[in-house]
Amino acid sequence: MIFDFKNENIDTLKADFEIILIQDKKIENYPKSQELFKIMNFKGEGICLDIQNKIIYSELKSLEYEDIRLAFANAYKALKKLEIKSVKTKSVVGKCVVNSFNALVQGFHFGAYEFNKYKKDKNSTKLENIIISESEINNKKYDIDEAHIGINYGKIFSNACNFAKDIVNEIPQIYTPLKMAQDALDLAKNDKNISCEIYESDFLEKEKMQAFLAVNRASIHPPKLIHLSYKPKNPIMKAVFVGKGLTYDSGGLSLKPADYMLTMKSDKSGGAAAMAIIKGASELNLDIEIHSIIGATENMIGGNAYKPDDVLISREGISIEVRNTDAEGRLVLADCLSYAQDLKPDLIIDLATLTGACVVGLGEYTSAIMGNNEELQNDFYHTSKKSGDLTTILHFNPYLKELIKSNIADVSNTSSSRYGGAITAGLFLNSFIKDEYKDKWLHLDIAGPAYLEKSWAYHSFGASSAGVRMCLTYLIHLSRKQK
Ligand code: BES
Ligand code: ZN
Ligand code: ZN
Repeated sequence: MIFDFKNENIDTLKADFEIILIQDKKIENYPKSQELFKIMNFKGEGICLDIQNKIIYSELKSLEYEDIRLAFANAYKALKKLEIKSVKTKSVVGKCVVNSFNALVQGFHFGAYEFNKYKKDKNSTKLENIIISESEINNKKYDIDEAHIGINYGKIFSNACNFAKDIVNEIPQIYTPLKMAQDALDLAKNDKNISCEIYESDFLEKEKMQAFLAVNRASIHPPKLIHLSYKPKNPIMKAVFVGKGLTYDSGGLSLKPADYMLTMKSDKSGGAAAMAIIKGASELNLDIEIHSIIGATENMIGGNAYKPDDVLISREGISIEVRNTDAEGRLVLADCLSYAQDLKPDLIIDLATLTGACVVGLGEYTSAIMGNNEELQNDFYHTSKKSGDLTTILHFNPYLKELIKSNIADVSNTSSSRYGGAITAGLFLNSFIKDEYKDKWLHLDIAGPAYLEKSWAYHSFGASSAGVRMCLTYLIHLSRKQK
């Protein structure tokens, strides 16, 4: 998609179609489409296509960034079916110019995204040219340079999201840990500021990552520990992202029922997000050193599978009683978080489709933020709000911690209660965070929104890239805060 910002009035711009945003349901301002509005019973809600005048009207509910995304995504979704190549639109400026243009570009990209690799009918669209006029819908004055920055941000955010979506949507037959490692190597090959190391089983053995290795044991695909690094010249801080990269989660011997196994190709969403975040951060030229650590493996069944009743010695030397092999993500993350702390980060964030309990608790739209540092959690929460990713904070408490005690090992991989599963999983991870990093760590459970079985808002069916925008927005916020 090509975005062309023109220092020109909308009326002088040439394009195959025009998007007009309707605010406050004020349809009376558009005399040439009044007859159509009547026939279509259009009252200013949703969209209305005026083929004769080559206009699409799209409702803009407010100047909030999320509504800007939605208005353009809805318009684009309707237009992409038409035989047109270009569309023009006015600028929309909410509270911040950069964020508004970022949202506008994201709207188009999210409206356009489809994973149709395996379909004969690909619904390919010719609508690639988006012409944005300097004219602003409310005649507000704004800084053109900021508009350009916002458009550039929008492209980088959207490309990072699409990159994560393509990884998550790819089928488990193709998308093995090896493929994830190859994608990480390609990412580094295509970006001179990113480097990549892939570590194999022998390294995991040497590092005593027995929890990670146990999860992998019944898979025919060897595990990969992926370490991507982005090192700018004078970094103001070091952030490490740790991603759950389960390329398939069958549940292991504690096998998932058929209905629950479906969609488990998406259990690599945290890992995909960690890769997309470093890609985006590098393209944004952020002055923060970033590492993405991804534990890539399948969780399968077989004669050599790890078992409920096993006790695993993790890299931290903490023993883990396995009570359910389907609580595998936390085992992989325990060892990856241990490795990540050796990098001496100022901030450490893990992203994981960790628990079904999080989906039950928060629904399919919202990710959970957990950790020990309330200020950090609040800061992250408030920043994530404008990113488009929905989040909420789940607080730890010492009573829930009691539930992961084990009679045979230092900690159990499952809670003794069926309630509070998202937090007890977070508390399990917390057992592997050393004291000096307790306040620098956030756990993001993205199980709800990572993979959509029904489209919502501007998201299409399948992967949603949950976590990517909130983390990139937070990194930008940190970079500005230090200045
Ligand atoms: N990958 C799943 C969590 C999940 C569920 C992600 C639904 C996305 C949608 C995870 O590995 C898992 O199976 N967790 C178990 C933990 C339980 C056995 C303690 C769960 O949530 O049921
Ligand atoms: Zn599982
Ligand atoms: Zn899982």
